[in-house]
Amino acid sequence: MSQSVPEMASELITTLAAIVGASHVLSGDDLASYEQDWRGRAKGKALCVVRPGTTAEVARVVQACAAARVSLVPQGGNTGLVAGSVPDASGAQVVLSLRRMAALRAIDPQNMTITVEAGFILQSLQEAADEAGFLFPLSLGAEGSCTIGGNLATNAGGTQVVRYGNARELCLGLEVVTAQGEVWDGLSGLRKDNTGYDLRDLYVGSEGTLGVITAATLRLYPKPAAQLTAWVATPSLEHACELLGLAHQHLAAGLTGFEVMNQFALSLVDKHYPHLRVPMWQQTPWCVLIEISDAESEAHARGLFEQMLEAALEQGLIADAIIAENIRQAHDLWHIRESITLAQVEEGFNVKHDISIPISLIPAFVREADAALAAAFDGIRFVNFGHLGDGNLHYNIQSPAGVDAKAFVAQYEDQVSAIVYDTVSKFRGSISAEHGIGELKLHKLPQHKSATALALMHTIKNALDPLNTLNPGRVLQA
Ligand code: FAD
Ligand code: MLT
Ligand code: ZN
Repeated sequence: MSQSVPEMASELITTLAAIVGASHVLSGDDLASYEQDWRGRAKGKALCVVRPGTTAEVARVVQACAAARVSLVPQGGNTGLVAGSVPDASGAQVVLSLRRMAALRAIDPQNMTITVEAGFILQSLQEAADEAGFLFPLSLGAEGSCTIGGNLATNAGGTQVVRYGNARELCLGLEVVTAQGEVWDGLSGLRKDNTGYDLRDLYVGSEGTLGVITAATLRLYPKPAAQLTAWVATPSLEHACELLGLAHQHLAAGLTGFEVMNQFALSLVDKHYPHLRVPMWQQTPWCVLIEISDAESEAHARGLFEQMLEAALEQGLIADAIIAENIRQAHDLWHIRESITLAQVEEGFNVKHDISIPISLIPAFVREADAALAAAFDGIRFVNFGHLGDGNLHYNIQSPAGVDAKAFVAQYEDQVSAIVYDTVSKFRGSISAEHGIGELKLHKLPQHKSATALALMHTIKNALDPLNTLNPGRVLQA
């Protein structure tokens, strides 16, 4: 006689408890923090949450779920912005939380690498690198709670990409549990390895749909002797782009951050967090945050920075500038930048876009998209900020003042995004520069990725996860 669904579910939960220990299988009503995404855009229902403590346990969990034909949703810090890390509403998916796998396995100072497990929190990784005398440069607003496994699974970007690259560029090796529950030990600290297809690069950015990342070997960098931050006012986005060119020329590899913020984005920070004292925002349409890292000394960094800013002033690229006097001031300026996302949450539901465009075309893109949106939606507000140094804008839309934000997003999100993404495609950009596809952008991908590319992606997914048990319905339609 065949088993009923509840019988199979309860048998699977018993099996999982035998693998990881009963206290590490959570079920019932207390799963809210695992079932709800960070933005409050997706709320699912899990069969259970399983929290393995070792790679061998992850492998056995994956095998048990595959045998029961139950799908798994890998989850790290659950800070993702595209609703890819929470279960669907079926109550039939298992959330595989990697948070218990948080060991630091090794530091190799000569090879300048660090090997950690997937649940290692990004900020703890930065601190571990720092204690060992190195820099781990990946840096983003959620670093206090996101995990390195999640960072690699999303190929996260952040504020240092202009110098050090995305998570992919920082990764030298991976350990992965495949969809069949086998362990691929690719934890090499090699900087060169051309022995066939690059499996590491395939798993990085796959958003939990091809395998479960259990550990990674990452690049470390020498700590700079000095870091300086400047906050500048610039009259337009065109000027900001020219300033970026000037900064590259003057600072070369010393340029480690170049972030742009429009006036409305900063006005939201001022409105919701007045104690942060946002500089200059009322007097200029755009502010830019620039960071320089210097291998020599603070005096050398300051000299270079002042020369660059003087040249920018002479050329009319900036109207005003302050250089942070000390680390505390620099931290405060970065804190303002990182608070834009939270200020937007305070303001209410919004339509987020995480787009990239060739830097030279960004001003034209923004002009065109702004005009098309303003014509279609009277009074909408543009929260435009992001990683200009990488050609990556968070081109977000807030409802018109006084309008119910949630109702506006529910009714118009699709139309707003269609205008933005059509303009992105016209400029040969990407509809997801760093946050991934998850579930939120799933239905938009087919219109903005070529049929050939999508067919290849489906071929890879079918080959690596033929039972479709790993995060189904994310990145690609199930
Ligand atoms: P989760 O949210 O748990 O998961 C994200 C995806 O990865 C899901 O699809 C999940 O299934 C998969 N996954 C997680 N762990 C694993 C694993 N071990 N193996 C396989 N798949 C896995 N992102 C940026 O790129 N740049 C930013 O500047 C940035 N700033 C942010 C600021 C704030 C305030 C917030 C809330 C988010 C920000 N993000 C940013 C988004 C988010 O922090 C990143 O996507 C981060 O990399 C997600 O890590 P996580 O551990 O929280 O992953
Ligand atoms: C950022 O750069 O602050 C993040 O990607 C978060 C966001 O887009 O809101
Ligand atoms: Zn970002």
